[in-house]
Amino acid sequence: MRDIKRIYLIPVILILLSLLYPQMVGGDGGFMVNSKYIKGDISDDPASPVWEQIPAIQISLFSQVRFEPRWFDGKVRSISVRSINNGERIAFLLEWEDKTEDRKGDGFKDGAAIEFPVGKEKAHFSHASRMEQLPGGKVNIWYWKADSTDIKDMNAEGLGTLAVQQKQDVIGRGMWSNNKWRVVFLRTLKSADGNDVVFQPLEYKDIAFAVWDGSNGEQGAQKTVSVWYYLQIDATVNRMVYIYSAIAIAVAGLFELFIIRRMKGSEKGILLLILLFAALNGCAKDEAVERGWSLYHHYCISCHGNKGRGDGFNAAYLDPKPRDHSDSKEEYMATKENKQLFDAVSKGGRGIAKSQLMPSYGHTLSENEIWSLVAYMRTLHKNKVEKVSLKEMEKIEKKKTRLKIEKINISSDVESLSEDISRGERLFKEKYGCYACHRIGEKGGIVGPPLDKAGFRLNADWLLRWILNPQSIKSETTMPNLGVPERDARFIVLYLKSLKGA
Ligand code: HEC
Ligand code: HEC
Repeated sequence: MRDIKRIYLIPVILILLSLLYPQMVGGDGGFMVNSKYIKGDISDDPASPVWEQIPAIQISLFSQVRFEPRWFDGKVRSISVRSINNGERIAFLLEWEDKTEDRKGDGFKDGAAIEFPVGKEKAHFSHASRMEQLPGGKVNIWYWKADSTDIKDMNAEGLGTLAVQQKQDVIGRGMWSNNKWRVVFLRTLKSADGNDVVFQPLEYKDIAFAVWDGSNGEQGAQKTVSVWYYLQIDATVNRMVYIYSAIAIAVAGLFELFIIRRMKGSEKGILLLILLFAALNGCAKDEAVERGWSLYHHYCISCHGNKGRGDGFNAAYLDPKPRDHSDSKEEYMATKENKQLFDAVSKGGRGIAKSQLMPSYGHTLSENEIWSLVAYMRTLHKNKVEKVSLKEMEKIEKKKTRLKIEKINISSDVESLSEDISRGERLFKEKYGCYACHRIGEKGGIVGPPLDKAGFRLNADWLLRWILNPQSIKSETTMPNLGVPERDARFIVLYLKSLKGA
């Protein structure tokens, strides 16, 4: 019976643990690949029950649009990744949905790759290709192809320099069942080969992924890729968990000795309720932030970078540069109210008297989704402003409008005068900031396809529908609906139809 009275110690311990938890898992929490330490042998069997106890992280992939031959139709947009090590060997399990097993026959084969930088120089996640901001250090690539029984251990120092190593050290295999691939890559932590990545326990490493879907026509540079993520390697079973738990229990003991013992029965009851409430609150995951994280990775990292530093792969093509959401050089985000950030995302740069290169997302995302993005951005910098509140989040979801568009006939509908074409050009460049993502000639970004030859390739009716509502044609596209009124869209179509290459 005496033990039951101690029930109030449970919430106290939970609160302390939830406060200490961020220290236990280390800075970035769920946004990195954590290689869990396990005892015993590690095999390359994708069906091994070991994997079931290991938490997975979801990694977003996008079409490889940076280098020729670019690719816009990537099929696999997300993979789940797990990793384990036993102090000697390290294994990765990659899992993704794929309705077809492209392993045999004449068509393109499914495949997957993991990439790590070797040495100190920073590298681009696509084969370490040299870019304006990156010198292009060496990378180590592990490549699995569905029709092959081994994993290729390779190096690259820029596109077109991919070379298979003399000494092959990686093993692994893939298994397809229930419309899903499970592929394991396995190697020793250390390696004597200077061309190989070396894994140090407790160290952070950059890691990136690529997937090919053969039946979707993917091969070579035509694939989906991730940006760099962090990999952290646990050294032993995380002892800090025990240390922090011990601290929590000790503090709870002192609390009982000095505070609870001096209280009356009814006071203890009230305290218990307060503590339970606080514990529930402290342990609840911040759903808004998680949702914001995944939206940010889908829509924003091409320009703002996957850590929000304003250094996405499209940043080099923009002036002004995308805002650094981490405030690493100057304090900016911290000086803005939540509502101001909401407006920036919803109305776009032009809507807040800033550059039109920041697109507007108010026609693509619901208010709730935009608040989640604000909540997530608040985790990227030192935040002096109030947390995004429930009141803000609870605003009604905006209904997404489905448009009914009449067919158009460019030549009879609007007279194709050069005046109309240049009006379309101004709308494209200055008003809606289409330039931020599309290249025409020497200018413009590279998030979407270049549009120099749009006049040959694309049909006017399709263009109009696409500009008015890209999501109605391709729901997962990262091109936002920019809220272009039909009249403006028709001028833009005229301009695009006039582009027939050099
Ligand atoms: C095509 C590139 C591009 C994409 C995609 C993009 N941004 Fe931006 N963003 C910019 C540029 C450029 C600026 C700087 C505008 C300026 O300072 O005039 C900016 C500025 C901002 C700002 C600062 C606004 C201010 O008050 O100065 C916020 C907040 C922001 N972006 C959020 C987002 C979010 C959230 C997403 C994804 C939903 C996103 N951006 C997607 C290019 C982009
Ligand atoms: C935030 C980046 C972004 C902005 C801003 C943007 N687009 Fe796009 N656009 C894309 C992406 C990405 C695609 C590729 C579609 C896909 O596969 O998801 C695309 C595709 C297209 C296509 C089809 C091209 C093809 O070859 O199939 C056209 C046309 C187009 N956009 C026109 C526009 C116009 C006009 C604007 C301005 C009103 C605009 N885009 C603004 C990202 C953007």
